[in-house]
Amino acid sequence: MEKFLAKTFAGLEEILSEELLSLGAQNCCILNRAVQFEGDLNLLYRANYYSRISLRIFLQIKEFTFEDNDSFYKEIRSVEAEKYLKSNGTLAISATTHNSIFSTPLFASVLAKDAICDRFRDLYKERPSVDKESPDVQFHIHIFGENAILYLDSSGESLHKRGYKVSTHPAPINEVVAAAMLKLTEWKKDCDVIDFMCGSGTLLIEAAMAGLNIPAGFYRSHYGFFSWLTFDHELWKKIKDEAVIEDDIPIDFYGSDISGRYLGMAKANIAEARLSDFIHLKKTDMSLSKPQRTPALVIINPPYGERLELVNPSLFYKEIGDTLKKNYTDCTAWIISSDFEALKHIGLRATRKFSLYNGPLACKLLKFELYKGKKQ
Ligand SMILES: C[S@@+](CC[C@H](N)C(=O)[O-])C[C@H]1O[C@@H](n2cnc3c(N)ncnc32)[C@H](O)[C@@H]1O
Repeated sequence: MEKFLAKTFAGLEEILSEELLSLGAQNCCILNRAVQFEGDLNLLYRANYYSRISLRIFLQIKEFTFEDNDSFYKEIRSVEAEKYLKSNGTLAISATTHNSIFSTPLFASVLAKDAICDRFRDLYKERPSVDKESPDVQFHIHIFGENAILYLDSSGESLHKRGYKVSTHPAPINEVVAAAMLKLTEWKKDCDVIDFMCGSGTLLIEAAMAGLNIPAGFYRSHYGFFSWLTFDHELWKKIKDEAVIEDDIPIDFYGSDISGRYLGMAKANIAEARLSDFIHLKKTDMSLSKPQRTPALVIINPPYGERLELVNPSLFYKEIGDTLKKNYTDCTAWIISSDFEALKHIGLRATRKFSLYNGPLACKLLKFELYKGKKQ
């Protein structure tokens, strides 16, 4: 059994823990913006490939306490880093420090790098070099007071980089947040999904991937653990082959946006994900959008006035409420926004609320059930 740590955004820890349990994780423990869990190498590969809600997954390789620089150096030097890294390979080390003897995280990471490289020099008369951009092995040290945990970053690039984005919107929803929103809606893959402000199509692509059972990492070509000496190619292939992707489902995904330019981005991303047969796009103002059939799940990420300008947020959000009330009877709508004041102007009663982050922005995700007239 190995110990792992999956990182995510604040507010998503619980659904990440549920997701990891469903992938076979044991002894899940919810932390701040992370979930610690246990399992074997198989689970590490599986979590990287299938988890939609993890940003990064670390393998814990040593936990220790230290008193001073010297004992810190000795503890790191005793780590068998040669199990993962060739003596002529490349490494990078990042660190986070809280209440520690190190005045900066940089100092801790430089000392750790010296300890690892000195070990290699003693064993092989050569040492790995530093490559901050794309190292063979990325180490991370978490230091809290006199306690330290050394991890290997198994993901490499953040897992929100799914590999299907060929065109980026100026105010995109993060892919991990989009997948988490969908999970929070408890959508059962039993009705159409509509985003009438779809921008570059992130919410619809994540919904279609979930609907068709396409693994989160299906379009990705690289993970950090590919360049570890322990990489088991056969096991990786076996885990990928476990995916049972559907190609015929009785539901559709509909996206619209007022901007032709942003719809062009959605079209390119959807084509890259080979989902053009499932996601249908149309250029239209939200007030003219309508479901093809009901019930449907409406999930939207309107402008917050942060990265896209909004002249009159209250009026704009009132228009969203009016559109939902008028055009989307018998549907359920979920809206994410960081503009808490504007959200009050939707004019509908939210039946569920979650607090979460879209990148650095603190947001609320609200649910609205849309009935004709007043709910009895
Ligand atoms: C925050 S962005 C959505 C980004 C999208 N979730 C993504 O990941 O790319 C909001 C979108 O709402 C669109 N929009 C603004 N006003 C609109 C309106 N009246 N009708 C339809 N779309 C509108 C914008 O063009 C923009 O693409």
